[in-house]
Amino acid sequence: MTEKPVSVCIVTFGCQMNKLDSELLRSELVRKGFVIADSPDRADVVLYNTCSVREHAEDRVFSHLGSYRRRSKRDDRFILGVIGCVAQRLGEDLIRRFEHVDLVCGTQAFLRVPEHLQSILAGGGPVVDVADGDLAQGGPSCGRVPGARERRHQAYVAVMRGCDNFCSYCIVPYVRGREASRPLRDIVEEVAALAADGVREVTLLGQNVNRYGRGLPGDSAGFADLLALLNEVDGIERIRFITNHPRDMSDSILDAMARLDKVCEHLHVPAQSGSDAVLARMNRGYTAAHYRAMVARARERVPGVELSSDFMVGFPGETDADFADTLALLCGMRFQQSFIFKYSPRPGTEAARRPDDVADAVKRERNQILLAAQQEVDRARRAALVGREVDVLVDGCDKGESAARASGRGVGSGASDGTRLAGRTRQNDIVVFEGPEQLVGRLCRVRVTETTVLTLFGRLAEAGMPLAGGERNRS
Ligand code: 5AD
Ligand code: SF4
Repeated sequence: MTEKPVSVCIVTFGCQMNKLDSELLRSELVRKGFVIADSPDRADVVLYNTCSVREHAEDRVFSHLGSYRRRSKRDDRFILGVIGCVAQRLGEDLIRRFEHVDLVCGTQAFLRVPEHLQSILAGGGPVVDVADGDLAQGGPSCGRVPGARERRHQAYVAVMRGCDNFCSYCIVPYVRGREASRPLRDIVEEVAALAADGVREVTLLGQNVNRYGRGLPGDSAGFADLLALLNEVDGIERIRFITNHPRDMSDSILDAMARLDKVCEHLHVPAQSGSDAVLARMNRGYTAAHYRAMVARARERVPGVELSSDFMVGFPGETDADFADTLALLCGMRFQQSFIFKYSPRPGTEAARRPDDVADAVKRERNQILLAAQQEVDRARRAALVGREVDVLVDGCDKGESAARASGRGVGSGASDGTRLAGRTRQNDIVVFEGPEQLVGRLCRVRVTETTVLTLFGRLAEAGMPLAGGERNRS
């Protein structure tokens, strides 16, 4: 390496797993002597951590990569790299298409980025590495350097990697490989280390956490056992997890959620469609009736639980009647949040062999209809929370629209200083209120005073005293 440390900026697109991977890579880079730059403009190396889930996500990456042509020509020491799902999917083709890209490193190989950068810096030329790595075994029980995390008190933890579901539309099994769970002990040790480093909330990540533990030696511990062990880790106050597959939602997980005080009452369970015919073509393994029964079971077994979902419109062959079934499911389930996507064919998936036969205008219209329906649900749900007290873990100082709104309306003006804080309830609702900045990373009790479609506004209750921990709020 050169004398002046080489600075690297990682720009992250895509899901929480990508955010985690960026953090792990930042740690690995710092350990190998690189420094982390906040902005691509000032960095010697820019790495794009990319998402392939929809065509639009890939197009965004391509347009970013294209914008570096001039800089690469001007500065021959500048290094541009692509990691993550697009790197895995396209490999060498990326360099053929963007001749100024120096490094392509896939989803299981990205921890080798520091050595590849060293080879490029030494004049070794472009590197493409989409081979298997440690992550095939579920990932390292990585130490993380301070500062690699976006927020000091929150961390993502991969409990498994890859996916074996093979939903017919989905690229993930192809770009992230086979499902592999990490050993229980590695995860518990990692969470304990994070707690010692100031983490209060962990979000456990897996494509289908219900299946955690399959294939591990002994095959005995499941996700509920993991939750029980993590609930005992001192310093951790909240445990969240994503994603659950509706087909595999077991009572043991629901009962663990109800029993364990740190496990938050929020489930993300993507429905995708309300039409049995479409669900079958998607290879989802459940019907709309099964989905409804699962939601009823969750609500019965976990008091106060809120559920969120993903929906896709315009899957090949989706008729008006199929869409009407989806709309009915969305309205009937009263989700805390719904993420709605227009289907986009992904090369190599089973669904991509069918004609993409729903016109884009129809997809757009169905998308709008679902968004509007969810907004109605949001309005009613949030209005019902006004006047209630909720426990909030403060994420940070609020930025943007909600801040302007809170200040304009003077919401929370009874608090001791003017900082606008934003945090989340156990059910994952965002709450904005005024309070001292020292509350960031701590739990406090907030009375909800007002609501918009997106945000709850409130006022600190109990004179702004943070909760001592061991919260339990079923509101
Ligand atoms: N087209 C559109 N949306 C997709 N998703 C996954 N694959 C596709 C695709 N090919 C959506 C699903 C999934 C979410 C993460 O992205 O709804 O739950
Ligand atoms: Fe995450 Fe899937 Fe996008 Fe990969 S393709 S970044 S796994 S959402």
